[in-house]
Amino acid sequence: MHLSNYPLFSLILPISCVATLYETIESLPSTTYDFVIVGAGAGGSVLANRLSENSKTSVLLIEAGPSYQYRRPKQHSSYADAEPGTGSPWDWNYTTTPMPGLDGRSIPYPQGHILGGSTSANTMAYTRGSFEDWDRYAKLSGDSGWSWLEMLPYMFKNEKWTAPNDHHNTQGQYDPLVHSTTGITSVSLPGFPHPFDPLAIATTKELPKAFPFNLDMNDGFPLGLGWPQSTINGAQRSSGATSYLGPQFMARSNLHVLVNTRVTRVNQTGTDSGKPAFRSVEVTQSETGPRKLISAKNEVILSAGPVGTPHILLLSGIGPEKDLSALGIQTILNNPAVGQNLTDHPMISNMWYVNSNGTFDVLGQNTTAFAADLEQWNKTQFGIMTDAPIAFLVWSRVPNGSYSTPDPSAGPNTPHYELLFANGFLSAVDTLPSTGSFMTLVSSVTAPSSRGELTLNTANPFDQPNINPNMLATDFDNFVMASAINATRELVTASAWKGYIIREFGDLAAVTDAASMKAYIQQKSTTIFHPVGTAVMTPKGASWGVVDPDGIVKGLSGLRIIDASILPVIPSAHPQAHVYFLGERASDLIRAAYNLH
Ligand SMILES: Cc1cc2nc3c(=O)[nH]c(=O)nc-3n(C[C@H](O)[C@H](O)[C@H](O)COP(=O)(O)OP(=O)(O)OC[C@H]3O[C@@H](n4cnc5c(N)ncnc54)[C@H](O)[C@@H]3O)c2cc1C
Ligand SMILES: *[C@@H]1O[C@H](CO)[C@@H](O)[C@H](O)[C@H]1NC(C)=O
Ligand SMILES: *[C@@H]1O[C@H](CO)[C@@H](O)[C@H](O)[C@H]1NC(C)=O
Ligand SMILES: *[C@@H]1O[C@H](CO)[C@@H](O)[C@H](O)[C@H]1NC(C)=O
Ligand SMILES: *[C@@H]1O[C@H](CO)[C@@H](O)[C@H](O)[C@H]1NC(C)=O
Ligand SMILES: *[C@@H]1O[C@H](CO)[C@@H](O)[C@H](O)[C@H]1NC(C)=O
Ligand SMILES: *[C@@H]1O[C@H](CO)[C@@H](O)[C@H](O)[C@H]1NC(C)=O
Ligand SMILES: *[C@@H]1O[C@H](CO)[C@@H](O)[C@H](O)[C@H]1NC(C)=O
Ligand SMILES: *[C@@H]1O[C@H](CO)[C@@H](O)[C@H](O)[C@H]1NC(C)=O
Repeated sequence: MHLSNYPLFSLILPISCVATLYETIESLPSTTYDFVIVGAGAGGSVLANRLSENSKTSVLLIEAGPSYQYRRPKQHSSYADAEPGTGSPWDWNYTTTPMPGLDGRSIPYPQGHILGGSTSANTMAYTRGSFEDWDRYAKLSGDSGWSWLEMLPYMFKNEKWTAPNDHHNTQGQYDPLVHSTTGITSVSLPGFPHPFDPLAIATTKELPKAFPFNLDMNDGFPLGLGWPQSTINGAQRSSGATSYLGPQFMARSNLHVLVNTRVTRVNQTGTDSGKPAFRSVEVTQSETGPRKLISAKNEVILSAGPVGTPHILLLSGIGPEKDLSALGIQTILNNPAVGQNLTDHPMISNMWYVNSNGTFDVLGQNTTAFAADLEQWNKTQFGIMTDAPIAFLVWSRVPNGSYSTPDPSAGPNTPHYELLFANGFLSAVDTLPSTGSFMTLVSSVTAPSSRGELTLNTANPFDQPNINPNMLATDFDNFVMASAINATRELVTASAWKGYIIREFGDLAAVTDAASMKAYIQQKSTTIFHPVGTAVMTPKGASWGVVDPDGIVKGLSGLRIIDASILPVIPSAHPQAHVYFLGERASDLIRAAYNLH
């Protein structure tokens, strides 16, 4: 695959017989579809694909951001830069409210604004989480269909296990029995070796109690240290845009994709057996541009992500009445759960100076080397640009009895925290020094007890909402973060690292007591970009929650939500796989409901 082979769908394919990418609302051939899906990220890309499998079903997918082919070349490669696009046209450019747990800091809050959504901008880690996380979803939603065992077939429908780019021998690096080669999204082991790979593996032998080797962290039992699996296909990112919306699917005449178009609200279309029906979306291409309505015969499905979906609901009069009326928005459905329970994983980047000339730091330090590596990637599809940002993952728990609050994790096989190895300086807070080579061990709290919220700031859909992930707000989360930082220091005490690790970088080196640990956590923590839970799924008839276990919005008709917003609790994992799986099962539920088989 060559860069210039990227599909320019609407330009090369004749419009009459193929699904087409539409750039303007006026060019769209219809204003009514069987299904209208809002947002082309992890959730929306799956639904658009699966619902259009039946050629008699017409599907419109609406995306606020541009089409994937405009992405800068560097990010077509699997190498992801340290700045995930904040301030670029591919990002929503959100900022959080000040967070007390972060010393009152506001932080950038990137969300993909492009075909593929955040799967086109993310770090590509592919983690299914623990079986306990899924079994808890089944319990909290009252639907056993969300349990680990019942979700396995959907995990297999999503995953297309793919050889790593360097085609190295992967025996002993994963368990083939728990993988699928027949799904849609490519998943692979790292395709570029790191100088410290043997040292990380040696650590599991030297310190097996703290860092046991885990052959495959995607078998439902993630605890331990193992090789990471990433959404990478050879030398390229495998995103919702390149997998579920790949050229073979975009060729369907019953699938239309409208980009550069923002949904500003959902509009009531009538009443079904006493419930307000919402089968229209209001769209526009600019803040001052005209607003048009596009309608669904069956359903509007919101997949606008954990920020976009609650934002649209609130703008539409679906949310807490007192907040809405304060902004002059008429409440159609008073539901205090909309926007509440926003949860995210805090992370901190711990860096070490290392004795190596094989880190990716050179890409940020030497523009000549960067250009040479990019050219090598472009010409040969090999080299450091094909590397995954993550070299190893460790999943771990704080000891039993070390805390007195209820355990927020889903059970004893579910991590409280994660460590993430990067072969260079990976920080959203500190700046890469102009010289020196580095290793980063990110610490992240993956079973946090803190909860935040998302509320409207103004009634203008072009003003961002108030986003308060409220990370590190509890003693438990701060205790886990400190434990995870201590664990990184313990890890590099293994004798294997002698000669490789030189010394701790910057503020980590200054962490010597409880006070400096607290200051380090408050001043250096940021997000690992995993917001969920702003429109939670609860059992049918529950007094709290936004959607039923099938994603249908409680109290309304014709409106469903399938994205990261509906996860009842944050998974102790990177969540893109969870959202792909939600999309796969929801597609089956929808097809059954409308007899689309
Ligand atoms: C920088 C970054 C790094 C990450 N790293 C990882 C990782 O390594 N591994 C992992 O598993 N997860 C990672 N994630 C998280 C993961 O990508 C998300 O959990 C997942 O993509 C969520 O899927 P979604 O469908 O809910 O939302 P998204 O994938 O974000 O899709 C939502 C889509 O809706 C569109 N949209 C929003 N509002 C509107 C509107 N009003 N009108 C029209 N369209 C709209 C957006 O533009 C976007 O395309 C990362 C996320 C980010 C931002
Ligand atoms: C992003 O937001 C910041 C402040 O929140 C603003 O200064 C900047 O201009 C914005 N960038 C873009 C590209 O919109
Ligand atoms: C959508 O509904 C709102 C509220 O009823 C209305 O003000 C608006 O004009 C509608 N949008 C369109 C495009 O008709
Ligand atoms: C969700 O948020 C509400 C309101 O803030 C709170 O009462 C409730 O405890 C939260 N639920 C969870 C599971 O955190
Ligand atoms: C790194 O150093 C080794 C030993 O000095 C050398 O053989 C190798 O070519 C160097 N690699 C790079 C990428 O400079
Ligand atoms: C930058 O990289 C180029 C190409 O690899 C190399 O020739 C040059 O010496 C490097 N410059 C520095 C300052 O290391
Ligand atoms: C990649 O190579 C093609 C020609 O083969 C060239 O047109 C393009 O500019 C190159 N891109 C980069 C990023 O080097
Ligand atoms: C911790 O407690 C759980 C039960 O709550 C148990 O299953 C697990 O084995 C215990 N772990 C250790 C290390 O003792
Ligand atoms: C972290 O390590 C320091 C120094 O060894 C210790 O004093 C502190 O209690 C540890 N914190 C946690 C939460 O384990």
